[in-house]
Amino acid sequence: MKNIAIFASGTGTNAENIIKYFSRRETGRVALVLSNNPDAYVLVRAARLNIPSITFNRKDFYEKGRVLNALRLYKIDFIVLAGFLWLIPEDILRSYQGRIVNIHPALLPSYGGKGMYGERVHRAVIEAGEKESGITIHYVDGIYDHGDIIFQARCSVLPGDTVDTLAERVHELEYRYYPEVIEKLLTGNEVNQSGQEELK
Ligand code: GRF
Repeated sequence: MKNIAIFASGTGTNAENIIKYFSRRETGRVALVLSNNPDAYVLVRAARLNIPSITFNRKDFYEKGRVLNALRLYKIDFIVLAGFLWLIPEDILRSYQGRIVNIHPALLPSYGGKGMYGERVHRAVIEAGEKESGITIHYVDGIYDHGDIIFQARCSVLPGDTVDTLAERVHELEYRYYPEVIEKLLTGNEVNQSGQEELK
């Protein structure tokens, strides 16, 4: 049973989905939720699901090594970013090399990078007239949305789509695939691209 930590800055629907998924599995469990935002709704979700959480500020994260200490204290094996907006510091990258993943709500390498998060991503995709979008699960390095791609799944961008309707379709892909991909990585199983099927 591997211990998973989830970093999230926002509402945390993916975090909740992942927590619930692993509560039914024997491969891993979410042992800790971490947030830089003390008001993030993800903390309410974690409390309701009886998952310990901690918040931290920039100094704790980038200078004092407090977050890495907490990860060690909770014996964390694997780190999942789910709507987390800060770059991961060098000490954590080094200690968890190949064991930190992120999900991005578009098909990287397009529509990624600093400042490309949330609604902005979907707006850019719609304004560019793209016919499809999707999700990208990738390893995390020291550059925004940059590490090696592990898995992508696609969905259509429909005529008349708004940021909200597209975000909802992309979220469905996230809920469907992120927990399974994490589990495959935890257990050393190959991640294949069967998720290329379209979600209507
Ligand atoms: C997701 O769309 C994810 O792709 C991105 O941040 C969003 C988080 O949403 N990295 P939620 O907080 O899980 O609802």
